[in-house]
Amino acid sequence: MGTDTPESATAQAERRAHLERSRTQWDRWSNWYALSESDFEPMREDAIDHLELRPGDRVLDIGCGPGVNLERLQADVGEQGEVVAVDYSPAMVAKARARVDDHGWTTVEVRRGDATTVDFDEPFDAAIASLSMSVMPDVHAAVENVHRLLEPGGSFVVFDIRPIQSGPGRLVNPLLRRFLRWYANWNPDGDVLESLSTVFEECAVLETYTAGTTYTALCRTAES
Ligand SMILES: C[S@@+](CC[C@H](N)C(=O)[O-])C[C@H]1O[C@@H](n2cnc3c(N)ncnc32)[C@H](O)[C@@H]1O
Repeated sequence: MGTDTPESATAQAERRAHLERSRTQWDRWSNWYALSESDFEPMREDAIDHLELRPGDRVLDIGCGPGVNLERLQADVGEQGEVVAVDYSPAMVAKARARVDDHGWTTVEVRRGDATTVDFDEPFDAAIASLSMSVMPDVHAAVENVHRLLEPGGSFVVFDIRPIQSGPGRLVNPLLRRFLRWYANWNPDGDVLESLSTVFEECAVLETYTAGTTYTALCRTAES
């Protein structure tokens, strides 16, 4: 209070505006998401494979949308494990909860929250963010929060979208950025991989798809 410079106050206001746009945008898309959710299914499956979840693990799905990862996550951690999914959009949360109820999963909790501030009493063994980190208003703060929520030696797998990295295809990046901003309220200032490599003790890109525009990165916290 009173210590913020005018610049950081502006940045905070922009982040709040981005988050509220995100809520409106994803509430609206929640009714149509099912039409395209299977498009990325193989990449999401690969990403979850990299977590090497074990029965009994506690896993966090951050920016869960309508719960597209929940079936696989709860199957991997089993009855002794626990899946907690978080999303900022109330409509997405409602869809994810309906999915949980329809399947009768008793070890899956869906919570409405902001990835940068959401907090839990118990740490997680692993976390996943699929197609969500790059749409967050403060990517770096979200990455720091996930790092804080993980056990020592915990894994965080991120499947996400980025502009074309090399070659003449980069010419279409301005269009791609505009499309992603329109469609997903994508954050042009966030650099997910940069934040992951800065915050996590270990981090590597393990897979790239479609001319490198989508990728899977696996990061780990220090063992102790
Ligand atoms: C493209 S959807 C991804 C959904 C799902 N993970 C998937 O793989 O399809 C992005 C999701 O991130 C959520 N999101 C955006 N900003 C968020 C934030 N700050 N905290 C939590 N969720 C957020 C949106 O509400 C939306 O449901």
